[in-house]
Amino acid sequence: MSNFPSEKPVLITCGLPYANGRCHIGHLRTYVPADIFVRALRKQGQEAAFICGSDAHGTPIVVNAEELSITPGELVNKYHEHFRNIFQKMEVEFSFFGNTDWPTNHARTDSIVETLIERGYVYPQVIRLAYCSHDKRFLPDRFVEGICPYCGKTARGDECDQGCGKHLEPGEIRNAKCRICGNPAEYREQEHFFFKLSAFSGFLSEYLKNLGGTANAINYAKEWAKDLKDWCITRNLEWGVRFPGHEDLVVYVWVDAPIGYISFTEEWANNTGEDWEKYWKRDSRIIHFIGEDITYHHCIFWPAMLKGAGYTLPWAVVASGMLKIDDKKFSKSRGYVVWVDEDYLDHGFHPDLLRYYIISYTSHTKELNFSWKVFQDKVNNELVGALGNFLHRTLHFAHKNFGEIPQCEVDEEIMDKIRSTIENVRASLDEYEFKKATDDMMELAMYGNAYFQSHEPWQLIKKDRDACAVVVKNCLQIAKALALLFEPILPGNMEKAWKQLALEGDVHEARFEGALAEIPGARLDIPEILFSKLEDKKIKEMETILDKRIKIAMSKEKNIEAEMQVITFEEFQRLDIRIGRVISAENIRGSDKLLKLEVDIGEKRQIVAGIAKTHSPGQLVGRQVVVLANMKPAKLFGVESRGMVLAADADGAVLLLPEKEVKEGTRVR
Ligand code: MF3
Ligand code: ZN
Repeated sequence: MSNFPSEKPVLITCGLPYANGRCHIGHLRTYVPADIFVRALRKQGQEAAFICGSDAHGTPIVVNAEELSITPGELVNKYHEHFRNIFQKMEVEFSFFGNTDWPTNHARTDSIVETLIERGYVYPQVIRLAYCSHDKRFLPDRFVEGICPYCGKTARGDECDQGCGKHLEPGEIRNAKCRICGNPAEYREQEHFFFKLSAFSGFLSEYLKNLGGTANAINYAKEWAKDLKDWCITRNLEWGVRFPGHEDLVVYVWVDAPIGYISFTEEWANNTGEDWEKYWKRDSRIIHFIGEDITYHHCIFWPAMLKGAGYTLPWAVVASGMLKIDDKKFSKSRGYVVWVDEDYLDHGFHPDLLRYYIISYTSHTKELNFSWKVFQDKVNNELVGALGNFLHRTLHFAHKNFGEIPQCEVDEEIMDKIRSTIENVRASLDEYEFKKATDDMMELAMYGNAYFQSHEPWQLIKKDRDACAVVVKNCLQIAKALALLFEPILPGNMEKAWKQLALEGDVHEARFEGALAEIPGARLDIPEILFSKLEDKKIKEMETILDKRIKIAMSKEKNIEAEMQVITFEEFQRLDIRIGRVISAENIRGSDKLLKLEVDIGEKRQIVAGIAKTHSPGQLVGRQVVVLANMKPAKLFGVESRGMVLAADADGAVLLLPEKEVKEGTRVR
């Protein structure tokens, strides 16, 4: 028995992309399988709402907008449109794609936070927070950089993203520096609000026993649930959802982002005459598709919040493994990235090919490696060589020799094979084993190829036309099954296959079980080739683009290192430069370069200056000069020097002067 269709309403969500950068293959690793899963549910007669949207808040968006001199809202709208567009092109068809900054989400967040406060799950506490006295502001999350207290690596904001990956609470980061000006942060006390996550430890341990989904999420979560710390849920920011009753605070982005799942369902329901409470207030099956890196938020924090506020809990959490590019860790800054528009769609690749790669490369929970070479191999061997080949030789032979779908019956053996394939596929889908499901489908294509080959219809047609008609009919029945089975993965090409098979109706709406209904007799057109081989030249071209990007990133990294020669404001401030007045000056015996000066810099200093070739002692007495006062003391020709007179190193020394006379000892900054 399969899990679906179920009596209960089904809602599928995908982790909300931050509206803060372009879509890359890493994103698709979650969205494509989710889309395939939803399409496959519908093919099993299961209605399902498929919900996603832009994550509009959080400090990285504020920091980026500030750098680009635009408002966070403008930045968010730009990337919101970008993602919508890419999803449409990649045939990831959400029922609704919202935005966490829309009013419905503000309202739903308000309501949930109020409820949590009323029920005593939120409490105030004064905490020490990073504050920049230069920029005169508190430094939430991404505004600070420092050292992770758990692993000692450099960490930014609320997460140790280069080290141990731990969530960091406000004030936890060590040696905090302001990311705007680079100054060391101070710590100041302020009242913030905490969510009593620790109170949900017992509940979560029980809940996680029955939570469905993939082991990579659930097993970690079970460990974490044993020891929970309360979460600070307010931030000193303007951009976000206001914390009720506090004009200067917004809620932490991880509060209002998942609430987007609810508010987007509300908007979708309003548009379609559905009832959102069916999903979020009553018994339902909510399935979250996420990247493995946000498991804590979805298996711990989010269910606790839902429980506390009285909403329906997730039924399953399906976490995708991480992504590698050419066997190297995915990294935008190091150039190991494949952009979906620039590096894929813009080169004319069909979305189906990448969808197939993502779903079939490895198990959903394992690491997925993308390389153009493997992409070429998979397309050429599997899509062209197995699936495309079977569909085309069948259709081509049928069209050429019969011009139509023969009217005879399909063999029982063929129907059995199709039936068992559908069962296997459904069982694999129930376990979120998408690769296995795909392999089951591909196995049917290979069975078809072997059947065609061993029955030699090209011989049979000469001897026994009726017997040949049965072979062709069997192959056409398998082709119909393949079109239905592969539609979730290859929606564009299976739509074409469906038409070539002269089938009525919409392949996207049709059910898997239709594969067991005999393919009806109909006239056949000349079939077009669905999948074509990817040429070496094209793949080389793509590899070159990636290589170039990696090289550029490497040289940028070197430039950043060179930039490290730049000193910070704080380092500059260590220079004690002051205005002084020369009180006396004399030559030093034995040296034609050096003069011994007595300088008043608010105190008297003896300074040796290498200016004897350009300046005589008499010229200097009474003049103002600029002095580096905290120069390390030294002895020159046996004379002690405590400071340095500043001069431009032109043709000989040209002394610096203040624009007008100022008091001796005045600091230069
Ligand atoms: N924007 C987050 C990320 O990319 C995911 C938010 S998922 C939600 O990591 F649950 F908060 F909505
Ligand atoms: Zn760390």
